[in-house]
Amino acid sequence: VWVVDNIVDKQQVYPQIREAVEWLRAGEVIAFPTETVYGLGADAANTAAVEKIFAAKGRPSDNPLIVHVASMAQAEAVAASIPPMAKTLMERFWPGPLTLVLPKRAKAVSERVTAGLPTVAVRMPDHPLALALIEASGLALAAPSANRSGRPSPTTAAHVLADLDGRIAGVIDGGPTGVGVESTVLDCSGGVPTILRPGGVTKEALIEAIGRVEEAAAVDDEAAPKAPGMKYTHYAPKAPLWIVAGPPAFLQRLVDESRAEGKTVGVLTTEENRDQYAADVVLPCGTRQALETVASRLYDTLRRFDETNVDLIYSEAFPEEGIGAAIMNRLRKAAGGRAISEQRK
Ligand code: TXA
Ligand code: MG
Repeated sequence: VWVVDNIVDKQQVYPQIREAVEWLRAGEVIAFPTETVYGLGADAANTAAVEKIFAAKGRPSDNPLIVHVASMAQAEAVAASIPPMAKTLMERFWPGPLTLVLPKRAKAVSERVTAGLPTVAVRMPDHPLALALIEASGLALAAPSANRSGRPSPTTAAHVLADLDGRIAGVIDGGPTGVGVESTVLDCSGGVPTILRPGGVTKEALIEAIGRVEEAAAVDDEAAPKAPGMKYTHYAPKAPLWIVAGPPAFLQRLVDESRAEGKTVGVLTTEENRDQYAADVVLPCGTRQALETVASRLYDTLRRFDETNVDLIYSEAFPEEGIGAAIMNRLRKAAGGRAISEQRK
């Protein structure tokens, strides 16, 4: 595996991008930064290459991939049609953390990318290196997050290597990603646009742009899910995580109870509350003054708990407004449904 160090000058096509392009054209997989998380890319039209993504990640094959493009022409080449509302959203939010599910054009991408669905998920990432890679290769890149399936998504090249070293051809290191949680997945394939996965573009911003959006109901594992990826446990740290709704004093009582049972306890908190806790490991994750900072650091913080010996983690809860909706969605998945609220206890 080769690693390209912190490239930030977007004006230049780097020799390393050229090397990555050669790998992609040869049907190999390359990890690259986007504004949300690192992606693991392959030529979306090459079935054998796409299969390498699933193999490297250990990803279930019924979970389809997002196709990354660098131009409207590329989006038009993979979608059968682009409804006016989707067009409006592309103009408003692309490049950016918004994935649109559209009717797919026959034979434009491998069946393995869309897992047999009649739709295709498309996004234009807002990252100079991702755009440079797509442009220089001339390929639409199928790319899930570049983590082993079930692990927190990677927000640094080091995270990618921790999960995938030896399993992929290379990683382009663009430093830490900005948004920190994945793109919003919006179904625009028919009817009222529906959020399948909350993410970097908020529901409030979507409503402002097009007036009305719906949200997919909380996913029932037994039912056929609309966004197949939503049924799998995701983002999980190694120690069980509990989401605690209530003030710091309540969370501290839970810590005290667990420690009295001999457990080593971690707390996921924020800059404003970090001094309120006495626990074995206290990790602040951004500030409540700007939930974007929490989103940006969330996966790194979950991974950092794995480097400690905690038996369990108690996490503060966050308001579900703006980017908070995506933060709580990811925290709930990481917690596998474990939640404690002061009201109910
Ligand atoms: O920010 C992101 O979206 C990152 C970066 C790398 O772009 N990618 C990402 O990919 O998060 P992944 O594979 O981890 O998540 C893709 C999500 C899954 O929940 C999948 O089920 C859903 O998009 N999806 C993909 N194609 C779909 C389709 N045709 N219909 C419905 N959902 C789809
Ligand atoms: Mg993922």
